[in-house]
Order: sequence, then structure tokens, then C-alpha cells
Amino acid sequence: MPRDNKTPLIQKIAKQAYITYKGFKSESNGDNNLLPDRHSELLSLVTAIRAADLKIPPRKAKASPGASGPHNPPVTYMHICETEVFSMGVFLLRTGASIPLHDHPGMNGMLKVLYGKVSVRCFDKLEDPPSVSLPQFDPPLAPPQAASVRRSVLRSVAEYSEGSGPCLLTPLRHNLHQIDAVDGPTAFLDILAPPYDPDDGRDCHYYRVLYVCVCVCVCVHLCVWVLCVPSPPNDE
Ligand SMILES: [Fe+2]
Repeated sequence: MPRDNKTPLIQKIAKQAYITYKGFKSESNGDNNLLPDRHSELLSLVTAIRAADLKIPPRKAKASPGASGPHNPPVTYMHICETEVFSMGVFLLRTGASIPLHDHPGMNGMLKVLYGKVSVRCFDKLEDPPSVSLPQFDPPLAPPQAASVRRSVLRSVAEYSEGSGPCLLTPLRHNLHQIDAVDGPTAFLDILAPPYDPDDGRDCHYYRVLYVCVCVCVCVHLCVWVLCVPSPPNDE
């Protein structure tokens, strides 16, 4: 088959994302019903994208005068497109900026760095039975808060740069995550499927870590107890 060198790469990605995620249903007892061939084709397209493909000039690590003013927030989002199947855009993070711990319930995600470097910490939420005993939080939690804390297990801590493949999340795996800019400003392409829809249970929630512990189940791993917070904490 002849190679299509005329269609912009971002357009090929949008088309392949639609094909890959169309018909995706988030099952409460399952995770991913994506067809492997379509998903791997999307992965290879996304892996190849660079800032130049989107005409995004790399930002300089040294901020220009006025760059840190109120009109230049630490995190900005450039929307590219949204369909009923997926949404796609670019996040730009200033030096030292973070996207705090958050989730994408019932959604798949694909994050590909365009320039700079990010560190991504990913957790899986655990479905603890109500009988599981809570740690001693300091200060103690009010009963409504205690009822809403969740235990999550740390699954990965990894750095991604322009040459890295995408960071992936699914409805059940790595869905809770925090993204930190490392060593300067950074930008990454972000694909979410299905897109946000608060009316269908897909709203983004932010979390605060209340307690860190080492759990011993099948193996030893780091767990955090997290509390949903109404909005991103400032200056993180
Ligand atoms: Fe995210």
C-alpha cells in the first residue's frame, strides 16, 4: 500500500483515534476491549509526533519578562478536537508546573511529550471492601470524608521526553496520575477516550494524598490513601 505522506500526522492520529476508540464501552468488571491492531497503529502514529508537526515552538527554560504574570498560568491547554469518541489537545506546562493527582473515570488516556520532560506517577484505585480498616489520619477525618477516602496502589513512576513512547492509562490501570514538568517547560499531546462528560459519569476529580503506607498483599507495594478535593490545589 502506498504511504500517505500528504496528510498531516495529527490528522492521521485523529482518524486512527476515532477508529480505535469507536464503540469503546467502559465495563465495570473489565478494562479494555480495544482491538490490538488498531491500538498499536495509533500508538505508532502518536509515538512519531513531534512539536514541529503541530507548529509548536519549544519554549525557552528561562522565562521572558512578564511570562509568570497572572495572564500566563503555569498550565495551559490548547484544544485540538473533540468527537463523541475522543478528545485531543496539548498541555503546556511552565518550568516547575504540575497537574495534580487526578483521574479520568471510565476513560482511556494517551500522553505523548512534544518537548521537554515530564515525570508521571500512576496509581490504580483499589476496590476495598467497606470493612477495610482506615489508617489513623492526622488530623482525624470527619465521617463524610472518612467515607470517601480511597486506597490506591502506586503502579509506576516514569519520565517521558520527546523520544519516549506515550504514557498510557486505561479505565482500571494507571488511571489516577500526577504529571510534573522536569527540568524546564514541557508540552504534551493528550488524547482521552471517551471524552469528558459529567452527565455520563466522566468528570475529572482531583485528589489529595492523606497517608502513604507500604502494603503487603501478593507482593510489597506502596499505597496511598487519597481524598477527593473539590478543585486543584493552588501553586502545585
Ligand atoms: Fe490526566
